[in-house]
Amino acid sequence: MRNVLQSSRAEPVSSLFRRFGATRQLTLDLAAPLSDADATIQPFPDASPAKWHLAHTTWFFETFVLRDDVLGYTPFDERYAFLFNSYYEAEGPRHARPRRGMLSRPSLEEVRAYREHVDESLSRALPSLAPEALQLIELGINHEQQHQELFLTDILATFAENPLEPAYGEAPPPVCFAVEPLSWHAGREGIVEIGASGSGFAFDCERPRHRVFLAGHELGNRRVTNKEWREFIDDGGYQTASLWLSDGWAWVQQESVSAPLYWRDEGTEFTLAGRREIDWAAPVAHVSFYEADAFARWAGARLPTEAEWEDFAASADPMIGNQLDHAGAVMPRPGGGLFGDVWEWTQSAFASYPGFAPAEGAVGEYNGKFMSGQLVLKGASCATPRGHSRASYRNFFPPSARWQFTGVRLARDA
Ligand SMILES: [Fe+2]
Repeated sequence: MRNVLQSSRAEPVSSLFRRFGATRQLTLDLAAPLSDADATIQPFPDASPAKWHLAHTTWFFETFVLRDDVLGYTPFDERYAFLFNSYYEAEGPRHARPRRGMLSRPSLEEVRAYREHVDESLSRALPSLAPEALQLIELGINHEQQHQELFLTDILATFAENPLEPAYGEAPPPVCFAVEPLSWHAGREGIVEIGASGSGFAFDCERPRHRVFLAGHELGNRRVTNKEWREFIDDGGYQTASLWLSDGWAWVQQESVSAPLYWRDEGTEFTLAGRREIDWAAPVAHVSFYEADAFARWAGARLPTEAEWEDFAASADPMIGNQLDHAGAVMPRPGGGLFGDVWEWTQSAFASYPGFAPAEGAVGEYNGKFMSGQLVLKGASCATPRGHSRASYRNFFPPSARWQFTGVRLARDA
């Protein structure tokens, strides 16, 4: 059997079907406040238009389930494969990523019709699908959840470009952030295990579970706050070359970086709710790996490794090894904890675990081919859909990326 997820599932088809429907609906709900024009803009080459996210997640199900596993399926529009294939070389040529914002057609309405066509076809087919096709639906659900987060961060980037400073939605409810003084949690020393275990869903890059050695270390009990970041700025952090990695220093100069991405004048920041006063007790967000690393050096600390973070998460709360039922700002959140608010940069390169084997078929391109020049982030953010993270989750971005909800937890040697 094709083994696309490297796990075996015991979930009833009815439950998978419900999750499929809920995930597809949430994407539509996220797009509800947007006009066709809002949904067409691509704010910069690494971000995608909202409309493209809606269509690409649909293409994923259409291609890897309906085309491959449903006899007699008729594609909604054969030209869409070129437009909405993201990066799958095995699926042939595709529209250039930096030009996704040039697509005024298909319209948002046509993309919604595309979604409906695929959802109906898949719903009809689902009860009789083979187990390997069901695994691909599970992958497609998790894939769409990743795009839901990108959808929000890309809309934030889109609206941040607009001098009218539009709000995507209502301000999220007040959240009690951890404002207690920073304290240090002693991590375990010695050989520990990291990586996904058990039969629950995990991406291929989270497996196999394996042993790693941890030297003596400590981790901060909370994330770095906006107030602490302000102190870093006031202390000349962005002007002090000795705090920065060479690549980071070059990046700061070249991009004229002097604050987190969405900070504006007079103690305000741009958010999904428009421009607001900065909450100084909130975790700093929208900083790059370079900034996180420089801040940690300024603070006399360093960034955690992914193994330190994961072992901390697993030992801090045994439930954390399972799917987290946390929620984000757009999907109201409980606040606090290791999961939520911001992803946390680690100093670990996104690389393969010992014994890693990419999933078979075109979906093998999902993670493995990106294991170069990117850093692992752990946790989850306010934009991560409910249930879409776990201790072994490995988010990854290049070191200069900061349009995601990315923040910092400090670590130090002990
Ligand atoms: Fe994708």
